[in-house]
Amino acid sequence: MKIDILSLFPRMFQGVFDESIIKRAIDEEKISINIVNFRDYSKDPHNKVDDTPYGGGAGMVLTCQPIFDCVNDLKTPDSKVILLTPSGIPYKQEKVYELSKEKHLIIICGHYEGFDERIRTIVDEEISIGDYVLTGGEIASMILVDSVARVLPGVITEESHKEDSFNNNLLDYPTYTKPREYNGLEVPEVLLSGDHKKIEEYRRNEAIKKTKEIRPDLLGDD
Ligand code: 6GU
Repeated sequence: MKIDILSLFPRMFQGVFDESIIKRAIDEEKISINIVNFRDYSKDPHNKVDDTPYGGGAGMVLTCQPIFDCVNDLKTPDSKVILLTPSGIPYKQEKVYELSKEKHLIIICGHYEGFDERIRTIVDEEISIGDYVLTGGEIASMILVDSVARVLPGVITEESHKEDSFNNNLLDYPTYTKPREYNGLEVPEVLLSGDHKKIEEYRRNEAIKKTKEIRPDLLGDD
């Protein structure tokens, strides 16, 4: 998969894609990530990318020209253009799997007070990562790329993510590792039993219990 991220702050991405599983996925050519500073596309003599809002109001608004030209330059018939904004559709694991099937993502990071409404006309999807406001879409784009990269074939084993929280609308069941007892805290007996049917039943019940307690909305009974 190829990903272009349009951002005015390319240095924010240093480090994040240079470590751990994402780095390995890049090294193994399962994903390629390109940070594009759309200021480079500005036709303004001072490379401006924003301006004051018509009708008045606080802050600066991203202008059409640099983003239109940048997206046009990068776009192919295989591209999906995503705008990251707090007014987008809430991002869920279902969408992670959907996006992981795409060949090319172009991700636009919103900034400042917002963007010219006409930018929406060149976008396929608007996504928000949650009900809170960030200073810009950069961190949101890292979250999107990280969540998509880990479910690409061969990045981590399918077993590692098919039982993730949110698959089947359930949170993860609790896991334990050695030692059997730590500071008086014991590992549940059933996990030591070797009885796989019982273990599976225990895990499912625990997942349901936890989901009811913390995220009843996932079960549709909030
Ligand atoms: Cl995608 N961008 C910004 N700026 N804030 C957010 C967001 C995105 N998602 C939630 N809050």
